Amino acid sequence: MATNKRVVELERCMLIGVCLLLLCLLHTAEAQLMQHPPADCPETCGNIAIPYPFGIGNNCSLLGPAGDDFTVVCNDSYNPPRPFRGDYEITGIVLEEGVLNASYTAVPYICYSSPNTSQQFTMSFDLAGSPFLISTTGNKFTAIGCNTLAMIIGKEDMTYFTGCISYCGGDVQKAAPDGSPCSGLGCCQTELTPELSFLNVTWGVDGHNDTTNSAWDYSPCSYAFIADKNWYT
Ligand SMILES: *[C@@H]1O[C@H](CO)[C@@H](O)[C@H](O)[C@H]1NC(C)=O
Ligand SMILES: *[C@@H]1O[C@H](CO)[C@@H](O)[C@H](O)[C@H]1NC(C)=O
Ligand SMILES: *[C@@H]1O[C@H](CO)[C@@H](O)[C@H](O)[C@H]1NC(C)=O
Ligand SMILES: *[C@@H]1O[C@H](CO)[C@@H](O)[C@H](O)[C@H]1NC(C)=O
Ligand SMILES: *[C@@H]1O[C@H](CO)[C@@H](O)[C@H](O)[C@H]1NC(C)=O
Ligand SMILES: *[C@@H]1O[C@H](CO)[C@@H](O)[C@H](O)[C@H]1NC(C)=O
Repeated sequence: MATNKRVVELERCMLIGVCLLLLCLLHTAEAQLMQHPPADCPETCGNIAIPYPFGIGNNCSLLGPAGDDFTVVCNDSYNPPRPFRGDYEITGIVLEEGVLNASYTAVPYICYSSPNTSQQFTMSFDLAGSPFLISTTGNKFTAIGCNTLAMIIGKEDMTYFTGCISYCGGDVQKAAPDGSPCSGLGCCQTELTPELSFLNVTWGVDGHNDTTNSAWDYSPCSYAFIADKNWYT
């Protein structure tokens, strides 16, 4: 199996949590006006500050006027403990800037074991009812792989549909020279539409599963993720 430098970088970025997903906080001004939580609520989880209206445990976070839930789960089985909300891990919160940085707990992939047999993992982010939108100025949609069609189905009514195609032209080494831009050879990127609170990262057109991949032997796996636009340019 050929090692693709970008895949190695992706693994590294997941490991140290630098492939950030940036979320924008709605109603920040409103949130800041709220009173403080009970004095005995923890203010940090490990090394990460968890400012109110976020909070750890019962009655420590704000239950927002729109039903927004700011509860954070601090997982003590890590040393130091690490804060999570659903499918993502919180790596930083700056209330004043209305930004929450997060990293994935899993990245969508498709892996071929023959030209027409694949295993895939798709992922959806549902931020409806949470105080966040996905930051579309801070993030880009990126896919890494050969002969890949990575898709985003977005918005609750599924009216947003975009993605990108990455092709390798028969040779993974040619496709991913060090430092080359992410522009379709072994890597592709696209911008996101604003106001996204729901999206599903998936593979192929409409999730079809009947295409063959001639690149499967030298590039069996492809990955797709939404991340800080400066992570991979
Ligand atoms: C949380 O608040 C509710 C309503 O005020 C109260 O009934 C409950 O006992 C509180 N729970 C804790 C753990 O303090
Ligand atoms: C904490 O993390 C461990 C290891 O990933 C996991 O098994 C456990 O379910 C987590 N606990 C909570 C409360 O999420
Ligand atoms: C969030 O991520 C942005 C972009 O990488 C970075 O500039 C900022 O310092 C981060 N903030 C926190 C609190 O992690
Ligand atoms: C995959 O391709 C082989 C050879 O063309 C064919 O025999 C097989 O039925 C295909 N499998 C699937 C799941 O389409
Ligand atoms: C994402 O969309 C695909 C295609 O519609 C669907 O098969 C898949 O179950 C969805 N995944 C999630 C996690 O919702
Ligand atoms: C794709 O097709 C293969 C072969 O029919 C099947 O084993 C696999 O579960 C399918 N994957 C998805 C995500 O539908």
